Amino acid sequence: MFSMPIVNLAEISQQLAESGKRVRVLWQHNDILTFVARGREYRSEFHINPSDETMYMIKGEMRLHYRTPEGKEEVAVIGEGAMIYTPAGTPHSPRFPADAFALISERKRRDGEIDSFHWYCQKCDTHLHEERFIVNDYGEDPVSKAYQRFFESLEFRTCKQCGEIMPAPDAL
Ligand SMILES: [Fe+2]
Repeated sequence: MFSMPIVNLAEISQQLAESGKRVRVLWQHNDILTFVARGREYRSEFHINPSDETMYMIKGEMRLHYRTPEGKEEVAVIGEGAMIYTPAGTPHSPRFPADAFALISERKRRDGEIDSFHWYCQKCDTHLHEERFIVNDYGEDPVSKAYQRFFESLEFRTCKQCGEIMPAPDAL
């Protein structure tokens, strides 16, 4: 059946908050992956994905940390109602609170494409750890899986250069 679904972003955000989940996938087929994400109180990883991406702030403000091709960390501030375009391959870390909501649009992953998550030492910026995933279904919340693996390991969180340990959040 030919169908062009319409969603109400305020309603979807409300439902997401009530569910306690972080991600609600709207569409994931052919060339499109669109989802609404709720912020996390604590976010430290940089995500590298194989698709261009746009992020639109439905409610609240995002501080998007990203790393330039030279490896320098920068921050883009995206206010409520504003939108940013992030090219494929840009290490980025969307930081926004749990009562803020973003509409994210990407390309559905092609077979075998890899998403990676990177952590850097908060003291000396040395690369700490990488988690790699093949994301067949974004509804499985790969960010939460990466978090769990990283924060459950003291070894992954300990800087080989300066010994600094990245503290684990109160709740994952
Ligand atoms: Fe360090």
